[in-house]
Amino acid sequence: MINFNVPPFVGTEFKYMQEAVENQKICGDGPFTRKCDEWIEHRFGVKKAMLTTSGSSALDMAAFLCNINPGDEVILPSFTFSSTANAFVLAGAKLVFVDIRPDTMNIDENRIEDAITDRTKVICPVHYAGVACEMDTIMDIASRYDLRIVEDAAQGIMSTYKGKALGTIGDLGCFSFHETKNYSMGEGGAILINDVERIEKAEILREKGTNRSQFFRGQVAKYNWVDFGDSYLQSDLNAAYLWAQLEVADMINENRLATWNTYWGALKPLADKGVIELPTIPEGCIHNAHMFYIKCKDLETRQAYIEYMRKNDILCVFHYVPLHSAPAGAKFGRFHGEDKFTTVESDRLVRLPLYYGIAASDLNKIIEKTLAFFDSL
Ligand SMILES: Cc1ncc(COP(=O)(O)O)c(C=O)c1O
Repeated sequence: MINFNVPPFVGTEFKYMQEAVENQKICGDGPFTRKCDEWIEHRFGVKKAMLTTSGSSALDMAAFLCNINPGDEVILPSFTFSSTANAFVLAGAKLVFVDIRPDTMNIDENRIEDAITDRTKVICPVHYAGVACEMDTIMDIASRYDLRIVEDAAQGIMSTYKGKALGTIGDLGCFSFHETKNYSMGEGGAILINDVERIEKAEILREKGTNRSQFFRGQVAKYNWVDFGDSYLQSDLNAAYLWAQLEVADMINENRLATWNTYWGALKPLADKGVIELPTIPEGCIHNAHMFYIKCKDLETRQAYIEYMRKNDILCVFHYVPLHSAPAGAKFGRFHGEDKFTTVESDRLVRLPLYYGIAASDLNKIIEKTLAFFDSL
């Protein structure tokens, strides 16, 4: 079976994990955590990065750091993972879903302004497949209405928008290092903080509401419970696993991009014939090959394709069921405006296997079977 995903593994993970054990420091904020945090800060030019236990917990932290009051509203796409929404529900917000653009599957920047009310506090753009949302427009809206921007860049590490790294453009950004992501530590994530005034609050929030980080830096004589908090620190064992991959981040990125480009080149003739649609990468966006998807004519064709591939021992998978159509979506939010694209486009989308080090023979087989399926229609 050709799996849809294989977690990244470059070979130095065990060495670093052994080092973490020998350091006798496997809890949070150990040497490997610091290396990863600093790497993210330098590589992407963000004031502060902190590893977290997941992309979801990074989003939870971001929502808390926006000082949401009960009844405040957050604008987000419905075509996203539940974690994007959960974070704001936890903080007490109401969700306002806005339609997506069919070309990138990202929130339609031109529909955001109409969804703003006097309760709107945050816009949460999700950079689907590591392809940037139209951030200039979104940042402009945020500054005109004094709204905070939380970028869900769970899939967006190494991607850029007009030269700026995804996750560093808004007030707060969130990465995921889940095993399905380009760089992984099993479960994990990071919060990226642009506003220095939020750094101290973030440190307290992730240290169970204590000022322990200041204590460790010798800034206070003893540490105390100073505010609400939770436990969001990642273990140094996991950070050691991640560090192995961040050290060779470009190599992993290039390998994924090569696979993505191979798919694109091989399937372009099907797109030219109008049989399928391929992803669009808008001008000014550099993506990280997080995902390769195609869009079939309709839901029926997509399901038939997935089934055909499965019979040929290839796992291709669909993606999000739009949140507004889910029970919790109806409970916690509403869809603003017309659902012109969210449902129909998500019904057509299917993701092809793409992971670091995928064998050329597997890639060829996936392409060959895909061409055979669509040629037979
Ligand atoms: C857009 C998006 N946001 C958030 C998350 C949550 O990340 P994690 O699985 O690390 O909690 C994911 C995970 O797949 C995601 O795709």
